[in-house]
Amino acid sequence: MRYDFSNIKIFIEDDYTAMGKRGAEVFSEQLAANPNGNYGFATGSTPVSMYQELIRRYQAGDIDFSNINTFNLDEYYPIKKENNQSYDYFMKENLFRHVNLDLARMNIPNGEATDYQQECEAYEERIKAAGGIDLQILGIGTNGHIGFNEPNAYFMERTNYATLTASTIQSNKIYFASEDEMPKHAISMGIGSIMMARKILMLISGANKAEAAAQLLFGNITPQVPATALRLHQDVTIVLDQDAAKLIKDRL
Ligand code: PGA
Repeated sequence: MRYDFSNIKIFIEDDYTAMGKRGAEVFSEQLAANPNGNYGFATGSTPVSMYQELIRRYQAGDIDFSNINTFNLDEYYPIKKENNQSYDYFMKENLFRHVNLDLARMNIPNGEATDYQQECEAYEERIKAAGGIDLQILGIGTNGHIGFNEPNAYFMERTNYATLTASTIQSNKIYFASEDEMPKHAISMGIGSIMMARKILMLISGANKAEAAAQLLFGNITPQVPATALRLHQDVTIVLDQDAAKLIKDRL
């Protein structure tokens, strides 16, 4: 079911798989319209069903990644690329090595950089030099974060060195052998970097995200819920499954 909420297009789909299919459809339309574009990718459990559908569409000969550049939102810091919890590893494993993306065109903040400040600046420059991001895929944290822009007193402007909050550590530590092994910092595009993307595609799945989804659409625009900045963006599509939409669907 599609709704228009101000400048935001909203799709509510039955379940996680259907959410991924709808996300892949929105993404594929953009890819067909702009096969040489710059596409921003996200990690986490949410976009996996969309990535599976994109792989299926690629295998069916329907979509072509060969001329795009990719820019991921974030990466843990410090982390080795070969660590199976790095976002470098995640993207290759869940999408990039299954499609015809030229890995030389893949950009992910470098969790192995010796100087993280320099890496933040270099990453922001690389986005700018490529001409900006045409479509940015996003998930949302239970605390309303996007990328690793955690609740804060102000919106982070550019790619930055982020300190993860207790809530994010709680959500993500399950992927690591122990909490000690989970990096407590990250390099993340800023809210400003994300807002500069020409289009945004956000996916939201599961009852534990319902409150964040409601805040995103109906709460005050505040850096304490960083995703609320998207209400000021001109071209946002949000795809939710029924569980994630349970607090918003009667209000649309
Ligand atoms: P998730 O993470 O997809 O694993 O829930 C989303 C996020 O934290 O942005």
